Amino acid sequence: LADQSISEDELLADPVEKIMAVGGTGHPAIAAPADLFQPERTNSIGIDLDDAVILQETAAQIARPVQLDKQTTVAPEGAVTKALAAYPAWSNTPLDERADCLERLADLLETHRSRLMAILVQEARKTIPDALSEVREAIDFCRYYAARARTDLCAVELPGPTGERNILRHEGRGVWVAIAPWNFPLAIFLGQVAAALVTGNTVVAKPAPQTPAIGQFAVALAHEAGVPEDVLQIVTGGGDVGAALTADVRIAGVVFTGSVPTAKAIARNLLADDARPLVPLIAETGGLNAMIVDSTALSEQVVRDIIISGFQSAGQRCSALRLLLLQEDIAEHTLEMLRGAMDMLNVGDPADPATDIGPVIDQDSYDKLMAYRAEVKDRIVHAIDVPAQGLFVPPTVIRLDNLDDLNREWFGPLVHVATWKAGELEATVARVNAKGFGLTMGLHSRIAGSSALVENLARVGNLYINRSMIGAVVGSQPFGGEGLSGTGPKAGGPHYLYRFCAERTTSVDT
Ligand code: SER
Repeated sequence: LADQSISEDELLADPVEKIMAVGGTGHPAIAAPADLFQPERTNSIGIDLDDAVILQETAAQIARPVQLDKQTTVAPEGAVTKALAAYPAWSNTPLDERADCLERLADLLETHRSRLMAILVQEARKTIPDALSEVREAIDFCRYYAARARTDLCAVELPGPTGERNILRHEGRGVWVAIAPWNFPLAIFLGQVAAALVTGNTVVAKPAPQTPAIGQFAVALAHEAGVPEDVLQIVTGGGDVGAALTADVRIAGVVFTGSVPTAKAIARNLLADDARPLVPLIAETGGLNAMIVDSTALSEQVVRDIIISGFQSAGQRCSALRLLLLQEDIAEHTLEMLRGAMDMLNVGDPADPATDIGPVIDQDSYDKLMAYRAEVKDRIVHAIDVPAQGLFVPPTVIRLDNLDDLNREWFGPLVHVATWKAGELEATVARVNAKGFGLTMGLHSRIAGSSALVENLARVGNLYINRSMIGAVVGSQPFGGEGLSGTGPKAGGPHYLYRFCAERTTSVDT
């Protein structure tokens, strides 16, 4: 033990239980959540691939080519015009009917699970476990937002003096533009769309240019579930299409997941015209996510969680581990074990169920990641062999001599590692905070006081203690950050829907 001042009791206490018991570092006691919804607990890890039916069905679907349906794609301006016309009827459609549409959509996603998984493998280069967890997450978003809408969006009567009645209503705002990323082209795409629709808005959705087919299929299923065609339209294309949509002064809001520069460009667009109304931007961007490990952590668990957090999905998650901060005393031992675990990873064809890590999304991403690796080659601590053909970036651990040398997110399977000394925990968290991102952070420690300290200091949306730091579960781990990582509110959380609503109060003198 590096820090001898810790009592045995404190060391043995389960850090999470301790935080719950004392209500964290001065937080009020934790209230039990409403029992609205039971999420799939297997969103990201621990998927049981013994399910031969899923594998067989998906393999058969992968044999079919992905079809891109050009017919469903309309021009940005025309789409906004149609969505505006469709808005009054949709916003007046009873809330329960809108929620029913999401539940029917969730059923259809289940029915078409293997086709959706196949498109995710083919178009987004997802591994089969990642594809399965993504379909489950999309289903969770639909069911969760339907359940929350039914309970949260009802009109509420607020107090007032005798003779006065005050009613607060949550209603749609108008046409929302939803811009989704390629790394969760089904779950995030449908999460955005589902939230905007159930709150009474009409939607023009733009999938990432790398993943239009899965977006088109999802929209076709939403129409089949009962969402009118003009209420949800899809527009495919790149940044120029996104810019045209967000520059349209008729839109009522933008929900975006992607890079920080694009989020800022959208924000500028929304403010560019003095005459245009002020409309909300919900942006979820990247992270420079650190995992801090102290000398009391369980090495096997740490190594497993580094592998999952840093390399699963080829590191192409905004939640992924980018910066591993090991207490000096255990650094060599941990890295030795990590080398062994990395050597067991199977990098290859994403359609092969035995594959742990597939390729990165496209040539541009591959080139940038490989150029960076070449630049830092003298600091590579460990990397593994990958197939020569294809866009396979070797999972790599890179030594960081100075924390100031890493200030941006590398969106791939590259984990930077640095050390800290006993007694520097607080300063280490402060240095991570100072980078300005605030999405995920991991802590591995058996010291309850350290967990409480980090919980108090970390400026992140999602703190994970003694576990991996990816795979937020809808309804259990609301996801999203602060600072350069986004505006909030958190997707899959109890406050997300409100941001899509106009809050209107009527006060009547009775
Ligand atoms: N929501 C994903 C996760 O938690 C990241 O985008 O891993």
